[in-house]
Amino acid sequence: MNETKNIGVIVGSLRKDSINRKVAHGLIAMAPASLRLEIVEIGDLPLYNQDFDDGSPASYVAFRQKISSMDGVLFVTPEHNRSMPAAMKNAVDIGSRPYSKSVWNAKPGAVISASPSLQGGFGANHHLRQSLMCLNVYCMANPETYLSQADKLFDPAGELTDIGQGLLKKFIDAYAEWMTGW
Ligand code: FNR
Repeated sequence: MNETKNIGVIVGSLRKDSINRKVAHGLIAMAPASLRLEIVEIGDLPLYNQDFDDGSPASYVAFRQKISSMDGVLFVTPEHNRSMPAAMKNAVDIGSRPYSKSVWNAKPGAVISASPSLQGGFGANHHLRQSLMCLNVYCMANPETYLSQADKLFDPAGELTDIGQGLLKKFIDAYAEWMTGW
């Protein structure tokens, strides 16, 4: 019997009508049975401060424990000024510390970006990958998925269009396949 892998999903947008959150929910809904996806919230994490490495806030501790418990990590990110949003970077930094205690180490992961623009969050996607490389997150290389004009992947009721479903299905199936190696 195949083992189900628990995957932490980190969404880089904090706004309630976030396209990226809808993308995350789409991925959760269409993930194959081999994956159990769960959003790990980052909106309440105070800005990272190295002074907190000794005696971290409870929210840091809970976040680190949650990520530690996961078999893999999936990052769903918007682009802010050609990079990842501050909330996403903050979560990455909090998980990476205290030094030598990073909870990201050796996790198999993947990055997907979504934007209403034509570039699909390419800059954010690759800035995030750069940080994940240094943290030893094994990032799935392909399919590279930069969802451009991502607002149009949902109908007025907020449901994924056929094109949107196809793009997300291709991505999550590839990630499920990637996860079989870990
Ligand atoms: C943006 N947006 C944006 N889009 C983009 O494709 N490249 C960019 O560099 C930026 N920069 C940027 C900066 C800031 C501060 C904001 C608030 C927005 C637009 C962004 O893609 C759009 O607001 C998305 O809807 C954000 O994703 P969510 O919140 O819908 O998931």
